[in-house]
Amino acid sequence: MDNKVLLTGGAGYIGTLLAPMLLEQGYHVTIVDNFLYGAQPVLGFSMHPNLTLIKGDVRDEVMMGKLVPKHDWVLHLAAIVGYPACAADPFRASTTNVDGTRNILQAMSASQRFIFASTGSTYGKVNGIATEETPIEPLTLYGKNKRDCESIIRDSKIPHVILRFATVFGSSPRLRLDLLINDFIYQAIHNKQIVLFEGHFRRTFLHSSDAAGVYPFAMQNFEKMNRHVYNVGDEAMNFTKKQVAQQIKKYINYYLHEADVGTDPDQRDYEVDYSKLRNAGFRAKVTLDEGIRELIKVLSVLTVQHPLRNA
Ligand SMILES: NC(=O)c1ccc[n+]([C@@H]2O[C@H](COP(=O)([O-])OP(=O)(O)OC[C@H]3O[C@@H](n4cnc5c(N)ncnc54)[C@H](O)[C@@H]3O)[C@@H](O)[C@H]2O)c1
Repeated sequence: MDNKVLLTGGAGYIGTLLAPMLLEQGYHVTIVDNFLYGAQPVLGFSMHPNLTLIKGDVRDEVMMGKLVPKHDWVLHLAAIVGYPACAADPFRASTTNVDGTRNILQAMSASQRFIFASTGSTYGKVNGIATEETPIEPLTLYGKNKRDCESIIRDSKIPHVILRFATVFGSSPRLRLDLLINDFIYQAIHNKQIVLFEGHFRRTFLHSSDAAGVYPFAMQNFEKMNRHVYNVGDEAMNFTKKQVAQQIKKYINYYLHEADVGTDPDQRDYEVDYSKLRNAGFRAKVTLDEGIRELIKVLSVLTVQHPLRNA
């Protein structure tokens, strides 16, 4: 049947949007997650008969060794995500991100298929436009962890697709406020100001529903995408941080305070080329404007801040 999916990190920001999509498409989904951010985000789709929930740690070699072979697909999203969260606990980050990925691959056979959530943070400081051929030189532990995973995956015999995501924004049952656009909108609504540093830095964005939506696409097109890396995003979503802040101003009256008060440790100031994924047939659907309007709606009624930040 080829429809048994193991979704690691399925209780996360992207995973909780992806799981219901897969269930709707007829897949049997097993989420394995240590529920670092609680189980509430899965409650909206928990009644689905084809959903199994397992509380487990991808670092648990024995547990993963039993679980992984029972599935046709492994969609591996579980991770300590983002450079602040990785810097806050480097041991936990590296063991989860790198050892966890190795555990899964070791338990897989060549008849199974693996899709890995990597990141544009692997590129580091790029001059010009980053394509999948651009050498990756990550500057943060998070980016280095993902680079190490990519190399373990490429060296394996397991059929795989590697997805290098743009910075995701937008709503989700497991909302994250540490992401740039989500954070800006939260600050604009609740603090009535955004403190902007390195405003000229170019970044690249992707709506959360498109980040989830690329998985079913990659599963349906797996044979032609097999053993390839794809940047996931859209050139129309390449913006400077200041452009994003100005776009938010169209909807919210807040004070934009430009100041040299910080630096981004991964120094991302780059444009990314998405033609490889576009040529494979995938287009992101949600625009910056649509995502901003959604987030204003959601974040206006939300006042809890810290539990929704990875670090
Ligand atoms: N959101 C983005 O902007 C973005 C961009 C690029 C790549 N990614 C990648 O996409 C994937 C999902 O990211 P997200 O934004 O949904 O993050 P998230 O932090 O919301 O989700 C990660 C999930 O992994 C789980 N987890 C953490 N450690 C675990 C462990 N040891 N065992 C089992 N589960 C564990 C957490 O409980 C959480 O549910 C990650 O691999 C991330 O690196 C995300």
